[in-house]
Amino acid sequence: MKISFAEPDQPRSGAVVVGVWDESVLTPAARRLDEATGGTITRALSVAPRFNGKKDELLSIVAPANLSVSRIVLAGLGKSDQADARLFQQLGGNLVGHLNNAGETEATFAIDVGEGSPIDQIEAAAQLAFGAQLKTYRFDKYKTKQKPEQKASLDRITVATAAPGAAERTYEPLDETASAVFFTRDLVSEPANVIYPETLAAQAETLTDLGVAVEILDENKMRKLGMNALLGVAQGSTRPPRVVVMEWRGAAADVDDNCRSPLAFIGKGVTFDTGGISIKPAAGMGDMKWDMAGSAVVIGLMRLLAARKAKVNAVGVVGLVENMPSGTAQRPGDIVTSMSGQTIEVLNTDAEGRLVLADALWYCQDRYKPRLMIDLATLTGAVVVALGHQRAGLFSNNDELANQLIAAGKAVREEVWRLPLDENYDREIDSDAADMKNIGSGRAAGSILGAQFLQRFVNDVPWAHLDIAGMAWSSKDTATVPKGATAFGVRLLDRFVAEYYEKN
Ligand code: BES
Ligand code: MN
Ligand code: ZN
Repeated sequence: MKISFAEPDQPRSGAVVVGVWDESVLTPAARRLDEATGGTITRALSVAPRFNGKKDELLSIVAPANLSVSRIVLAGLGKSDQADARLFQQLGGNLVGHLNNAGETEATFAIDVGEGSPIDQIEAAAQLAFGAQLKTYRFDKYKTKQKPEQKASLDRITVATAAPGAAERTYEPLDETASAVFFTRDLVSEPANVIYPETLAAQAETLTDLGVAVEILDENKMRKLGMNALLGVAQGSTRPPRVVVMEWRGAAADVDDNCRSPLAFIGKGVTFDTGGISIKPAAGMGDMKWDMAGSAVVIGLMRLLAARKAKVNAVGVVGLVENMPSGTAQRPGDIVTSMSGQTIEVLNTDAEGRLVLADALWYCQDRYKPRLMIDLATLTGAVVVALGHQRAGLFSNNDELANQLIAAGKAVREEVWRLPLDENYDREIDSDAADMKNIGSGRAAGSILGAQFLQRFVNDVPWAHLDIAGMAWSSKDTATVPKGATAFGVRLLDRFVAEYYEKN
């Protein structure tokens, strides 16, 4: 879909959207249109008592015959003193949904906030466009029989604004963000016969075009490094595992040592999780094609940092494996020696993400001496029980890092909720036979024990773990995220980097 910015002008075709504040107060553009149409808007409001200009309300009316446009859409903006970036982003998304349902091909968003609004006109226009763009995402490449009415109809949006050039410049990085989010959503949506460790590594390799240094470790290299925890998960599959390392060096050459050491992002990339010999039940197993979402978020984030030339050094490390049951698969009770030298008793082959991350975290820390490490993983079903589909679980050994992630999450509405770590939980994964076991003895505190396990592979470096099992995939549409892969984490971490690590 094409989005452009233009000075306000009477649109000649398609839908025209104007804003209405709470208690049916017309914005200046709505008032002008009302005058040009002999009071059509005022009349529409009088016959639509359920539309009052509250946030999220939309009212579509047929345009009168004296205009060449097809319809007028009144968009509720809520209370004028509460207007913020989020309002416009969400409105952009809602409008795309609404106009596609109506079969509209073209629209002009003429939503001027007027003088004295808490949000700047330029920002409002750019956020409107960003929300609209985010909502256009579809993963329909495998649908060969779609009827025209099942496809998106809308293909052109013009955002009317007094300063189109400035709005366009504000929108540019947001457009890069949307591209990275779509890239991640595509990777997560692809089935496991298409995206498996080698093909996912090849996708990561495309980041070289943007100036990211990409290195792919194969099985031999991993064996030499001693990554036996990761290799143990991979050994049941005919698809060989990969570790991909992506480096972006955007920090100025003269920064101090602390800023030169990279921010590190580590992702779980289980391209399909059957559970292995501890096999999962059949119902819903297809969901486990998105058990690589953590890695896709890391790849998308690295792409975005490079695309917008972030002034920071960052490294992404993803561990890519397929967890299958077979004659060569790892057995419950097997003991593996991880790259760190610590031994792990694998009592449940379905707790595989932590085994992959154990070696990926260790490798990253050992090789890069990062300034901090953040891992993302669809690690536990238990986090979905605890937090549902509203917040990801956050675990950290560092309060400042945790608070930065919480604040960045609030700012972009990809929220996280901190859960505890401590030595009493840690004792629950002591093993009788090895240094640790990969599950606890019961079902209690499943997400915390997963995080405690990861922490055993983190030395003295600020670290956070995001358990995104409840957030990576959505079963329903929201204003800016169509159902399916969400790319949760890309925007959160991009904001985290921009807000706290690029401003020095
Ligand atoms: N990939 C799953 C976790 C998961 C579940 C992600 C549901 C998304 C939706 C993970 O590998 C897993 O199987 N975890 C086990 C851990 C248990 C064996 C300790 C779980 O949550 O049941
Ligand atoms: Mn599993
Ligand atoms: Zn898994």
